[in-house]
Amino acid sequence: MSGYKTFAVAGAGAIGSIIVDELLKEKAAGKVDKVVVLTRSAAGNDALLAQGAEPIVVDYDSPPSLQSALHGIDVVISTVITTALNVQEPLGDAAKAAGVKLFVPSEFGGDTRQHTEGPYALKAIQRRRLGQIGLPWAAFVTGPFADAIFYVPHLGFDIANGKIEVGGTGDSLASFTSRRDIARYVVHVLTSLPASKLHNHEFRVEGERTTVNRVLAGYEARTGKKLDITHIPLDALKERGKGLPFNIQYFIASILELGGTNGPEDEMNVEWPDFKPQTVVEAILSYKP
Ligand SMILES: NC(=O)c1ccc[n+]([C@@H]2O[C@H](COP(=O)([O-])OP(=O)(O)OC[C@H]3O[C@@H](n4cnc5c(N)ncnc54)[C@H](OP(=O)(O)O)[C@@H]3O)[C@@H](O)[C@H]2O)c1
Repeated sequence: MSGYKTFAVAGAGAIGSIIVDELLKEKAAGKVDKVVVLTRSAAGNDALLAQGAEPIVVDYDSPPSLQSALHGIDVVISTVITTALNVQEPLGDAAKAAGVKLFVPSEFGGDTRQHTEGPYALKAIQRRRLGQIGLPWAAFVTGPFADAIFYVPHLGFDIANGKIEVGGTGDSLASFTSRRDIARYVVHVLTSLPASKLHNHEFRVEGERTTVNRVLAGYEARTGKKLDITHIPLDALKERGKGLPFNIQYFIASILELGGTNGPEDEMNVEWPDFKPQTVVEAILSYKP
C-alpha cells in the first residue's frame, strides 16, 4: 500500500474520466478514501456525483480556489487537455502550498525527452518545473491511446468508416496502450507502491508493441472488414500541413514511424508484472466513442 488515500483528478475528460472510474473502484474496495474532480464548471457533473466522486469547481487563475480544493489531498492527477498544459503551473504551486504529496502531470503519451518543440516539449518543461518547486512527481509514458487513435480522422485514422491514411511505411514498432489499461496501471501503482518508488519516477507502460500495418491487418482478420489503406511519405505529410498552426497528423505519424516505442522491452510495465493489458485490436474493438 502506498499510504496515499485521497486523490484529486484535474479535468476528467478522455483519459481523466477513466482514471476517476478506476479510482472509484478502489474506493468501493476500501483502498481509497476520497476522489475529488477539479472542474471549471458546475454543469455536467451529475454522472461523476452518481459514481461517488466529488466534483469541485475551480478557477485556475485563483490560487485560493485551487488551494482550498486541494486541502487534505495526497495525490493530484492532472489530465488537463494538451492545449491547457499551462494551468499545471498554478495547479502545481497550489498543490505544493496545500501539502499535496505527489503530482502526476498530464503526459500519457510518448517519450517527451527528444522533443524541443510542440506539446511534448511543453510537457517536459512542466515536469521539470515540479522538481524545481520541490513537489514530487510521477509521470506515465504510455504511447498513443490504443483504443482511440484509430478513430481520429484528422490523424488519418478513420477506422469507423474503413478509411486509413498511414504516414510513412507503417512498418516501425511503436508502443500503444488503451485508456482503460493506462487508468488501471496509474491507479494500481499509486495505490500499491510505497512513496519511495513513486516519487520522481517515470513509469513506462505498454499495452502492445506492434506496427501500424500489423494492427490494420489484425483488425481486418478479426472483423472480416476490408480497410481502404493508403500510405503517404512523411515528407509529403509535412508539406501538406505547412501553414497549419500545428501539423498534428505529421507529429503523430513521425512518432509512430521514427521512434514510437516507450523504450527497451524489458523496461515496460516492470512495476506490475500481472498487468495483462489488451492488444491494440482488442482495444479498437472495445472503443466506445
Ligand atoms: N497518447 C494519446 O494517444 C493521447 C491522446 C489524447 C490525449 N492525450 C494526452 O492525455 C492528456 C489528457 O488529454 P484528454 O484528451 O484526456 O483531454 P480532454 O478530454 O480533451 O480534456 C481534459 C479536461 O481538460 C479540461 N480543460 C479543457 N480546457 C481547459 C482549459 N482551457 N483550462 C483548464 N482545463 C481545461 C476539461 O475539464 P473541465 O471542463 O472539467 O475543467 C477537460 O475535460 C493530455 O496530456 C493529452 O496530451 C494522449
